[in-house]
Amino acid sequence: MGDAEPSQRTSPLWADPDDFDFMRRDGRKQHSSRQAVLGRLERRFAGRSASMLDVGVLSAVTADNLDGSDLAVSYVGIDISPAIIDDCRRRHPELDWRVMSVTDLAFEDGSFDVVHCRHVIEHLPYFETAVRELARVTAAMMVLCLFIPAAEEEILRRKKHSQGYVWVNQYRAADLERLLGALFSRVDFELVQDGNRPNAIYYCQK
Ligand SMILES: C[S@@+](CC[C@H](N)C(=O)[O-])C[C@H]1O[C@@H](n2cnc3c(N)ncnc32)[C@H](O)[C@@H]1O
Repeated sequence: MGDAEPSQRTSPLWADPDDFDFMRRDGRKQHSSRQAVLGRLERRFAGRSASMLDVGVLSAVTADNLDGSDLAVSYVGIDISPAIIDDCRRRHPELDWRVMSVTDLAFEDGSFDVVHCRHVIEHLPYFETAVRELARVTAAMMVLCLFIPAAEEEILRRKKHSQGYVWVNQYRAADLERLLGALFSRVDFELVQDGNRPNAIYYCQK
């Protein structure tokens, strides 16, 4: 197989084994936003199992946390980086892991009860294609979590990394929320402040 098309190439940031534990370091794994999301999903899907698509799975922390929760899920994890998917397969061989981009999801409309996308869209050139794809494959609820909360001002920037560049975008809240409002019947917002890391969570219901 030849080289991937430029638009499909993985940033070196998402291919370096030194980064695979990133979401486990410095309190990231314990961030209270993770518990907030799990609690909400446990209440919403109490007493029944749910299918879940998890998008952008570096360090497999979401999959780890599902193990200890009351949520019964059939889990599919996707990531644009083959190296990250290999790492997740080593950590959780019992789960379904696939290499795929959030901007081009190979699933039918409404395939998953829950679609979970945490700390990913800030790393894309822009949010719209990804959010439309996430909404398309959602049957019941999409959980979108941002580590750079959307704000009044839009700031699209690429940050230099030792091995290349990575997008770290702050989106305009009005633009993101207008799109979510158009794609879902109800959107609830929660800001979880944990230390110096605020997380903005949108719970979006079909
Ligand atoms: C900061 S990590 C988030 C990890 C995890 N969701 C968490 O919060 O613990 C960002 C992840 O998004 C993935 N990613 C970046 N662009 C992507 C794309 N276009 N499609 C799917 N995954 C992508 C990266 O490879 C990386 O695993």
